[in-house]
Amino acid sequence: MVRSLASVLGMAAVAALLASPALAMSVSPSAGDAAKGAAVFQRCAMCHTADQGAGNRLGPNLFDVVGRKSAALPNFSYSTALKSSGITWTDDKLAQWVANPQKLVPGTRMTFAGLSNPDDVHNVIAYLHTKK
Ligand code: HEC
Repeated sequence: MVRSLASVLGMAAVAALLASPALAMSVSPSAGDAAKGAAVFQRCAMCHTADQGAGNRLGPNLFDVVGRKSAALPNFSYSTALKSSGITWTDDKLAQWVANPQKLVPGTRMTFAGLSNPDDVHNVIAYLHTKK
């Protein structure tokens, strides 16, 4: 009895070990820390707000941007490049965008060099998930 319980626990531990590397590598918001992302967002905040009802700055308001079609706000004047990109802001697209906007959408007016640290990318996306 004791022995079989131990082997069940052992198998569970092995399963957890096998599962964890995949989790660590995914781009899901669960990989990010929204509180740390709020600090990263300071680098976006000179151009963006992310609060409901707040206005646009140099960039559009980012409230509820996750899952939204790109260039969707009627009261912001987007670049033709972003308007014709056809992008929907999934986690993957957001990750590519904040890492290098000009690479994802050549000709975009978002003049931001990009976040070079993958942790910053995941964390700021987790933060955007809280804004809805
Ligand atoms: C220098 C100003 C500036 C900074 C800094 C900046 N952005 Fe932007 N952002 C813009 C502009 C301008 C646009 C519109 C781009 C266009 O129309 O091509 C934009 C667009 C976006 C969009 C698309 C919104 C939509 O409605 O389709 C997202 C998402 C976004 N920015 C996220 C971020 C995040 C996250 C950061 C920080 C890591 C950031 N931006 C930093 C200026 C900025």
